[in-house]
Formats: sequence, structure tokens, C-alpha cells
Amino acid sequence: MPSTEVHAEVPVFDSAFVQDLHARYAEIRDATPVQRMVTPSGLPVWVITRYADARAALADPRLSKESARIREVITANLPPGADHRMFGNELSAHMLNMDPPDHTRLRKLVVKAFTSRRVEALRPRVEEITDRLLDEMAGQSEVDLLDSFAFPLPIQVISELVGVDESRRDDFRAWTNTLLDASDRGAAEDAAMAMGQYLTELIELKRREPGDDLLTALVDATDNEDRLSDGELIAMVFLLLVAGHETTVNLIGNGVLHLLRHPDQWAALREDPDLVAGAVEEMLRFDGPVMHGTFRFTAEAVPVGDVEIPAGQIVWVGLAAANRDPEQFPDSERFDITRDAHGHLAFGHGIHFCLGAQLARLEGQTALRKLVERFPDLSPAGPLDGAEWRFSTLIHGLRALPVHPGG
Ligand code: HEM
Repeated sequence: MPSTEVHAEVPVFDSAFVQDLHARYAEIRDATPVQRMVTPSGLPVWVITRYADARAALADPRLSKESARIREVITANLPPGADHRMFGNELSAHMLNMDPPDHTRLRKLVVKAFTSRRVEALRPRVEEITDRLLDEMAGQSEVDLLDSFAFPLPIQVISELVGVDESRRDDFRAWTNTLLDASDRGAAEDAAMAMGQYLTELIELKRREPGDDLLTALVDATDNEDRLSDGELIAMVFLLLVAGHETTVNLIGNGVLHLLRHPDQWAALREDPDLVAGAVEEMLRFDGPVMHGTFRFTAEAVPVGDVEIPAGQIVWVGLAAANRDPEQFPDSERFDITRDAHGHLAFGHGIHFCLGAQLARLEGQTALRKLVERFPDLSPAGPLDGAEWRFSTLIHGLRALPVHPGG
């Protein structure tokens, strides 16, 4: 029978945890796989770390994502005077923070843009952008692979797809970096304001000068079918732009880090670039860009494994922990681009399964294949063991990845 026992309130998700993510997650999974823990701001969260539990939780409708209720739950659970980042601004009213039927209605509006066929049609453009970025790296003795390659590729692809003008892409990067950084709340609020303002202007522009892009299509849906409010439109564009690049940057960055740490794997890919599809899945499993699913809360008591999580509790589904669960992936701590990583949870599971998974795969595979073909002697330009991770409670990504392209 599930128990209602509340486990020790272990502090979690501070910067030390983020630096040592997998070892800390493994300790939790081995000791108490469903555990109540406390964030640095004092918010109690229930953390799920086993693969089977995580997969079941992601598909469980009793775990709600409705943001207004989540805000209430967070407020009710925070200690007095705590300074916690609330996602209360207009940008957060998007489908990832909604349950059906709103979630279903909003997702339906954009799902067509991300089918396999539509994504496949983007391949030539993704290849072109990748080639140009690699051309720019050639001849340099040292570059930050994140700055020069992993960041500009996905931001350019998603900006073109959505319809964001090129001149604002650097601003965009600065805003999303600040928004995802867990350490400065005031700066994050300013960034959210600036970004909301920019998106409002962009929508006005599309009304005046329609383009052949997703945003114009969404503006039409708003104006003609009245199925999307202006607020929902802004939040949708925000979600697509942020989800569409912050994650893919780190698929490439984290993935290349592990290839450099495992020269035998890099050599295998160099010998046979057709291994690239499996390599990307293993990168997602072994060290994917998302540490936990986004916040959920228990709309009623929910049994998970041996524990019953009471109603009204915040739940984090530990995707990074589940993906290294040895019960699911034998020899799970070994990075092996030839293994069957099928079923990993790096893109989530259930109704919120990543809308951009096909696009992310296309970008990740193209980036890696061309990188290994163009720069077969790529080597690290700094100590790989001391790689520093950004302090974010959502995204798992490096601060920098200095390399010698060697080509
Ligand atoms: C949702 C991961 C790339 C758009 C999600 C979720 C995960 C995820 C884990 C579910 C979160 C949850 O249930 O709490 C990733 C990873 C990526 C990636 C690891 C890259 C390697 C992209 C791209 C786009 C995108 C390129 C393009 C637009 C979205 C959207 C959702 C989502 C819109 C929300 C779907 C919904 O609520 O129904 N992603 N993502 N993602 N992702 Fe991605």
C-alpha cells in the first residue's frame, strides 16, 4: 500500500546540486525514489526519480499543470517571507502551463507546423545554416562551441520558422538567458517585460505586414476564428521561441562535451557518421537539456511508487534521473552512442510531449554529422572535467565549451 509518510526535507536544487546533477540524482533514486525536498527558496517539492514512476506521472491527469492553481499552491507552500520566482507574467499563459481543454485547443493550432513532413522540408535550410556557421569556425584556433555554433543554429531556425527579425536575435538571447537563470529575480522580471513588449510589437508588425511564417498564421487564427486571445498569442510565441532554442543549444553542447570526454565514441562517429541518429538519442538520454519536467501539482492525492503524494503539492518529475535508471537502461552510467536509448524521457511523455522533438532531432543530427565530417580532429581547449554548468532549475547546459576546431 502507498504510504503518506513525508520524507526528510532535504535541501535540493541549489547550485552545488546543479554542478553535480547526476551523482546527486543517483543518491536520491537509490535511497528514496519519491522524495519530498526543499528548494533554496524554501519551497517543498516532491521529486520523482525512477523511470517507471516518472513515465506514469507524466501521463497522469491528476498531476495538473494549470498555472493559476500552481501559483496558489506555491504561495500556500512557501515559508513566510520567501523570495521565490513566480511565473505570474503574461508570458507564462501558454499550453505547457495548461490542462485540457485549453491545452488541446492551443496545441492544435500549432501542431501542423511541426509534423515530420513539415520539419523534413526545413532540412535544406538547416543544412545551409549549419554549413555557414562551420565555415566561420574554420581557420580559428579556438572558439566557444556554444557561442559559435550550438546557440546560433537553433535560434536562427526557430526565428525563421516563427518570423522573428534577425536584428533582435542577440537581445533575445540575453533575455532568455536571464529568464532561465535561477539567481536574479529582479533581472528576470525586467527581461520578461522587455520580451513581452517586443513580442507585442512583432505581432502588430505581422498584422500590418503579413509574412509567410507561423506567427502570421497564428495572428490570422486570432483575428478570424477568435480561438486565441492576444495574451495567448504572445505566450505561445514566447513558448515556441524559448523552448525552440534553449534546449537544442544544450543538446548540441552537452552532446559534444560527452563525445570529447569519450574519444572512442567520437572516433566511432567519425568512422561512421550514419551512427548520428542513435548518437543523438543517447545524448538526450545520458545528459539531456531538461533536468526535470516543468512544475506540476497534485490535484488530488496521487500514489507514486510506495508513496502517496498528498493533494496540493508541487511535483518535479526528474527526467535526468529517470533516464539514468539502471532498471530501464542497463549499464545506465555508460555513454554509448550505439546503445538502444529508445524510450528515454528527455522530450517528456504524454499530452505535453515535446512539440519540437522532430525539429530538435533534425537540428541535432545535422549539427553533429557536419561537425564530425568538417572537423574530425576537434579537441577540447579547456579541462573537460571542470566544465561548469549554468545555474538554472530547468535547463541543464554548460556555460561555455571552448574547443580547437582543428580544421
Ligand atoms: C515541451 C524537451 C526542443 C517546443 C517539452 C517538454 C520537454 C521538452 C521535456 C515537456 C515538458 C513537461 O512535460 O513538463 C525538449 C528538448 C529539446 C526540445 C530536450 C531539444 C533537444 C524543442 C523545440 C521546440 C520545442 C525545437 C520547437 C518549437 C516545445 C513545446 C512544448 C515542449 C511547444 C510544450 C508542449 C505542450 O505543452 O503540449 N520539450 N524540447 N521543443 N517543447 Fe520541447
